[in-house]
Amino acid sequence: MTRFQSGVIAEANADALFITLNINRSPESADCLRQVLAEVPATEQSFRQRYPDADMHITVAIGSEYWGQLSPQQRPAQLRAFPALSNGGISMPHTPVDLLLHIRSERHDLNYEVAALFSEKLTGHAELAEEVHCFCYLDSRDLTGFVDGTENPEGDHRAEVALVGEEDSVFAGGSYIHLQRYEHDLKAWNQIPLQQQEDILGRTKADNREYASADKAAFAHTRRASLKDSEGRSIEILRHSLPYGNLTRRGLMFASYCRSAEPFTKILESMVLGDGSGHHDHLMNFTTAVTGQAFFAPSSQWLEQLI
Ligand code: HEM
Repeated sequence: MTRFQSGVIAEANADALFITLNINRSPESADCLRQVLAEVPATEQSFRQRYPDADMHITVAIGSEYWGQLSPQQRPAQLRAFPALSNGGISMPHTPVDLLLHIRSERHDLNYEVAALFSEKLTGHAELAEEVHCFCYLDSRDLTGFVDGTENPEGDHRAEVALVGEEDSVFAGGSYIHLQRYEHDLKAWNQIPLQQQEDILGRTKADNREYASADKAAFAHTRRASLKDSEGRSIEILRHSLPYGNLTRRGLMFASYCRSAEPFTKILESMVLGDGSGHHDHLMNFTTAVTGQAFFAPSSQWLEQLI
């Protein structure tokens, strides 16, 4: 099987850095980036050997708008711009960047060290767009207080959902990533009654029980996000989202990994545009998407052949 980047399917970590960058438009910068990308699997391996308990994963992914600069001859079949959407007061913007570094492990100090290493390697060739430090909050909760990730695919099914297969053989072992930084309005959220919060999620808060299907409102996040295809199969993504924040700005870094770009797009449309009867996802009334980007994380083999 193609060697894939380990972070695509690995279980959640306690700490993560999402770093987005723009690469200078010069042949020298593209060459530097090729060198840096080709070394990523070895760098991850070296950190994993030196700090075996840290469970380090370094995932790199190339932005849909930059892909052609790096690899004009070959493009993942479904790599397209982030699907910007809006409906009434809800807007999902497209804010393109060139490169994503998703660094995660059990140790913030090591995540910092990896970030600093890559920053040094790219000096003079890249500009930082955003650097977001995420953390596992309580028992894997979002800052709204609800457990996040419960219905994520498990075991071997994670690879089936997240890794491109032989349908696009050059890019087998890669993964389509959609990334959005959401800023929560926790003041407004914390003012509504518990029952209303639970109805909006379609799950209970303290003990994370799923509502019976008949009790889920059409505006519930878990109803709008839980879709089936025409043959009745679940439309699935693998989420690697984590909270971020401080006392002034906080929310969720939402990250979808998938073998195809379509499931995320379909789910986002269901949340924002609604069910055709005016029911959008009411969770979106309490949070704002401030960024939205589409990337492709190629297999380790594909990265290594860049030099
Ligand atoms: C489920 C939070 C955005 C897709 C959930 C759950 C929570 C949650 C608490 C229930 C537990 C679980 O199964 O994980 C949030 C927050 C968001 C957000 C706070 C943004 C601020 C999104 C987006 C998508 C998405 C943008 C995809 C486009 C899903 C899916 C499920 C889910 C597929 C599982 C539904 C099911 O099968 O029950 N989310 N989510 N979420 N979310 Fe989100």
